[in-house]
Amino acid sequence: MTMLEFPQGFQWGAATASYQIEGAHNEDDRGLSIWDTFSHQPGRVMHGENGDIACDHYHRYEQDIALMAELGLQTYRFSVSWSRVIPFGTGHVNEKGLAFYDRLIDALLDRGIEPALTLYHWDLPQALQDLGGWANREIVEAFAGYARLLFERYGDRVSRWITLNEPLIFTQFGHRSGVMAPGIRSLPVTARAVHHALLAHGRAVQAFRESGREGEIGITNANTSYEPADDTPETLRATELARDFDTRLYHGPVYGRGYPESVLAYYAARDAALPILPGDLEVIAAPTDFLGVNLYSRQRIEASDDRGVGYRNAPPTLPLLDMGYEAAPHALGDFVRWVTKEYGRPRIYITENGVCDNTELAGGRVDDQLRIDLLRGFLAGLHGAIADGADVRAYYQWSLMDNFEWAFGYSKRFGMVWTDFATQERVKKASAEWYAGVIRRNGVEG
Ligand code: NOJ
Repeated sequence: MTMLEFPQGFQWGAATASYQIEGAHNEDDRGLSIWDTFSHQPGRVMHGENGDIACDHYHRYEQDIALMAELGLQTYRFSVSWSRVIPFGTGHVNEKGLAFYDRLIDALLDRGIEPALTLYHWDLPQALQDLGGWANREIVEAFAGYARLLFERYGDRVSRWITLNEPLIFTQFGHRSGVMAPGIRSLPVTARAVHHALLAHGRAVQAFRESGREGEIGITNANTSYEPADDTPETLRATELARDFDTRLYHGPVYGRGYPESVLAYYAARDAALPILPGDLEVIAAPTDFLGVNLYSRQRIEASDDRGVGYRNAPPTLPLLDMGYEAAPHALGDFVRWVTKEYGRPRIYITENGVCDNTELAGGRVDDQLRIDLLRGFLAGLHGAIADGADVRAYYQWSLMDNFEWAFGYSKRFGMVWTDFATQERVKKASAEWYAGVIRRNGVEG
């Protein structure tokens, strides 16, 4: 067995998000978010679960940071709950909410763990949703105002900023299929949400530059490595369409390439044209410092006229994970190579990669060997992509601990640390010990 060593200075971390771990949904004057509303509506979340308590991290952050330190994490990605700090989205600022993130950031820095702050990980203040949410263009300035507040308050201690987490998922699943908050099903609303989300990203980048703060800012997108099911020209074309709809739609404008023609035409033909005004594309293309890459799997693609988009998912050929997608460890290196080539070798942080593995606690241990095997494969692939020239500087595993997996409630476990949701006990899984070794060695067994 060889040791695949990562470049010197490569950073190892883990990621979480506010609504998935914090709990304390009605404490210290926090306002409601769309996920509070959505998860309390019957039939929306599996088993009727919600994030009212989640991992109770709001009260247990010190213990959780001690765990991070035990693992040797060098950086930690978390998100701020917008409605905790600005309960109605704009206007009144809640000092108690801001103070929580002060405490969190200071405790991380005390342990030598570098914070990476996501401004928006899906928990929109309900008050803004009541005005139309992402479909209303006014959200762009609301988001810029919120971003400015955080830059001012935390910019002396936080230097890595992520504007949006996975606009693909919150726009399409929140506004089109409706399986996530706010649970809307409308193509015109989706088109507006997509454009306004990217515009909000651009405005936040501009606000960051205007703040004069030192540091770096970028966007995190959701990705799948698309693979043609065969090599006929028809299938190859279909695979490019899948990339247009799911990948280029959210990266192209950020890199000054505009929206893919295929996607613009699809929306326009359905009375759902993207509401692009003069100057918008320049705002969205405000230069960023890095690209955040989230990736969990691959998807085989074939041509199809079923949905009017020209492609569909081909049947899986690899074993399926507890989330229903394929165990495809090669996908991370493949995607990183692809995105490196497509967008001119951006600096990349893997802001999320991980494994859903529901192995249970047994005899005081969680032997999640499947997670270890797949993570090892993902990291070996990533190492290969770096050797081929990709500029990847950090890797954040999703997730530090089992948490609220959105519409799946607590039924899907992604953590390196086991969370007992009844007692809030945390138990390090075998994968946590393994990951601590990866960090110590700055490398993975090949
Ligand atoms: C993507 C999302 O950013 C995160 O919130 C989610 O829990 C993980 N992937 C796992 O599905």
